Amino acid sequence: MKLDIDQQLLQSEIDALAGYSSEPPPVVTRVVYSEADREARVYVKGLFAEAGLDVREDPIGNAFARWVGSEPELPPVGTGSHIDAIPNAGKYDGTVGVLGGLEAIRALQRGGFTPRRSIELLLFTAEEPTRFGIGCPGSRMLAGALTAEAAGQLRDRDEASLNELRAAAGFGGELADVALPRGYYEYFVELHIEQGPLLEREGLSIGIVQSIAAPAGLNILIEGEGGHAGTVLMPDRKDAFTAAAELALAIEGLTKQLGGSDTVATVGKCEVFPGAVNSIPNRVKMSLDLRDTDGARRDRVLDAVGIAAKEIAARRRVAITTELLNADAPAPCDTQIIEASRAACEAHGIPYREMVSRAYHDSLFMHRVCPMGMIFIPCRGGVSHRPDEYSSPEQIAAGALVLAETLARLAGGAE
Ligand code: HGY
Ligand code: MN
Ligand code: MN
Repeated sequence: MKLDIDQQLLQSEIDALAGYSSEPPPVVTRVVYSEADREARVYVKGLFAEAGLDVREDPIGNAFARWVGSEPELPPVGTGSHIDAIPNAGKYDGTVGVLGGLEAIRALQRGGFTPRRSIELLLFTAEEPTRFGIGCPGSRMLAGALTAEAAGQLRDRDEASLNELRAAAGFGGELADVALPRGYYEYFVELHIEQGPLLEREGLSIGIVQSIAAPAGLNILIEGEGGHAGTVLMPDRKDAFTAAAELALAIEGLTKQLGGSDTVATVGKCEVFPGAVNSIPNRVKMSLDLRDTDGARRDRVLDAVGIAAKEIAARRRVAITTELLNADAPAPCDTQIIEASRAACEAHGIPYREMVSRAYHDSLFMHRVCPMGMIFIPCRGGVSHRPDEYSSPEQIAAGALVLAETLARLAGGAE
């Protein structure tokens, strides 16, 4: 099918969206329900409406923009991603899937294609864990993986609840109405930057994802005894920070020892109290992000971390408590979507490879609603979650083209 992606328009929209940020360019910070997020949503929903899509939002803030097909009673084909961004991020993570999805639909419209199944573009309300400590609350709720009860109680660092924040952002209605029945969509495909170096290193334009690694998230609290940095002798100390440091190194060692190449562990946050130069730390709050494409192997590392924490706590006479936030299952991508994406690349002579996704995405949860797939484009140096994150207009356009062709194949229909 003859398809033309308007590369310039798509790039201009990505650049415009980047302007909705809590920090000045080139940084993008757009935390869910913040003013920058709320303004960005208005901008993006305006683009959806201009493309003639029927737009609706659900009580947690997921947005749905539907291109009604010739057989509207059939389950639609879904696509989409997120526009929220962690602090000090770039402008392509997530937005390529939302605006690239929109351009894929516009290109099909311009090409005179009429889909048999409706095609629905989703903007998930929050993919990043920044505000509530857990990633993907929007798609988790759609998939029934996060109950209305639990979601409503999520709180940010200022103790504001998700319910209070969503209401202030203008999202009313009951959270219990968010979940979608299994099979609501026939397929779901997400376009996203790779956030890794493989495609660029191999000179390829497209990655067709085979499976998505799954995260486990832990909060770890270490409580010792504070005291004067000068007068408490070393044998008498119950130093919370040195215990935390030993646990962080134990996590790294256990991951290397028990995990595989896809097993990764990160202690990304470590808050030391009271945080005074001449006071022995009495409390440390730490985060653990542990991922793997193999759930059982990841959980073996998780169990070993628990044993190490107990041993360190006893030997250093501190208390170590852990709170498991999530331990999600990895998700396999659907073979028909992989096949359609492969055929789309070949139809347009675009070089591709199959690969795993080590970052998680909303697609990890959409897998529980319907068969799911992902299409990656390269990003420079594999850099992401940084202001210098970059994919070229040509790379983004190639992604939108393959997505358009894949959606057309999955939705069925005619020119
Ligand atoms: O952390 C992740 O994998 C995703 O980018 N939030
Ligand atoms: Mn991200
Ligand atoms: Mn993302």
